[in-house]
Amino acid sequence: MASVIRTTRMATHFVAVPRASLLRHAAPSVAHRVALSMSARRFKSEVIKETEVPVSVYTPDSKGAASGNSDHFSIPVKSGSRAPEPIAEEEETITPLEEKVYKQMPPTMQKMSVFGKVIIVTGGARGLGNHMAQACAEAGAKAIVIFDANQDLGDEAAAELHQKSGLPVSFFKVDVRDGNAINAAVQNVVDLYGAPDVLVNSAGIADSNIKAETYDPAMFRRLIDINLTGSFLMSQAVGRAMMAAGKPGSIILVASMSGTIVNYPQEQSCYNASKAGVIQFGKSLAAEWAKHSIRVNCISPGYMDTALNKVPALDAQKKIWKSLTPQDRLGAQDDLNGLCVFLASDSSKFMTGSNVIIDGGYTLY
Ligand SMILES: NC(=O)c1ccc[n+]([C@@H]2O[C@H](COP(=O)([O-])OP(=O)(O)OC[C@H]3O[C@@H](n4cnc5c(N)ncnc54)[C@H](O)[C@@H]3O)[C@@H](O)[C@H]2O)c1
Repeated sequence: MASVIRTTRMATHFVAVPRASLLRHAAPSVAHRVALSMSARRFKSEVIKETEVPVSVYTPDSKGAASGNSDHFSIPVKSGSRAPEPIAEEEETITPLEEKVYKQMPPTMQKMSVFGKVIIVTGGARGLGNHMAQACAEAGAKAIVIFDANQDLGDEAAAELHQKSGLPVSFFKVDVRDGNAINAAVQNVVDLYGAPDVLVNSAGIADSNIKAETYDPAMFRRLIDINLTGSFLMSQAVGRAMMAAGKPGSIILVASMSGTIVNYPQEQSCYNASKAGVIQFGKSLAAEWAKHSIRVNCISPGYMDTALNKVPALDAQKKIWKSLTPQDRLGAQDDLNGLCVFLASDSSKFMTGSNVIIDGGYTLY
């Protein structure tokens, strides 16, 4: 096209611009130029460099009660840049919510806790499940129950959580593929603590960098069995216990952003399919079990910095994952904690069938 002289960059796309329109924008009139340079000078001389910042604080304790309970003061502004304070290493302690503190909390904060709830966490021996179990202990759980296939890690995790929190914590060595073992274990939980109020299903595995054309069908079936069938078997057993007790409940299935996007650059069709299945299973359960006051929601994490990904073969790919994440990092092991407690708590009681992606912005691009 003759009238197109060049391209100009708009966002990430290159858009063809006609010559006339380019000239209109590139060459302002004399009057326009004068106005522009005057306003530029004015802004230059008006650069604000306050030496103090006036502050008004309104609280019930303020001294100036007569004038609307306000305190007025100024904060001095230091010139020059200051090195940021080093961030203190957080000490890993677990402080369970005490009843007397709970009773003093305003209703909104009480609803955001899981006070008095019995919570089962699968895959709670390590990683994301372990951290969500800790968060539930802090947020008021009556008892925490860990289901995991790893005997040593599970035992260790339960002992540590009990020792740090003082709460009743049990560990059941259960493989989420084993329906009979799950049913027996859930019945035991009911006998010990009463029917569960919450299930957090975090047990799962990942196979990465396997091309679909060479995927071993036995491996494919195994992964689907753990990630998808395991979610079903756990939900069924816990859902039945909730229904039998006539208790409302919350089921939280840990899916993945891989359930709605295809990861790059690793090929992992089976994992992605399994998590898409978990999300759609969760939505189906949510619709079926709303009449029993059982809510079902999914948490879909992006790339998280857990043992699941601490594989030398993934080191180079991790750099790519990080670079494609707007927050420029992998999620920390405790980055799901707040969302988990929220979904387990009564503050999310109108929420069911949702799939919440929590990924540092990865799926924005
Ligand atoms: N780490 C990530 O980047 C990431 C991202 C998205 C989703 N997820 C999902 O989050 C969940 C937790 O992942 P993680 O990173 O904490 O992994 P992890 O490997 O650190 O922990 C998983 C836990 O599940 C247990 N487990 C595995 N198979 C089991 C089985 N058959 N029965 C019972 N327990 C079993 C393991 O023993 C382990 O304790 C998984 O479902 C995973 O798919 C993880």
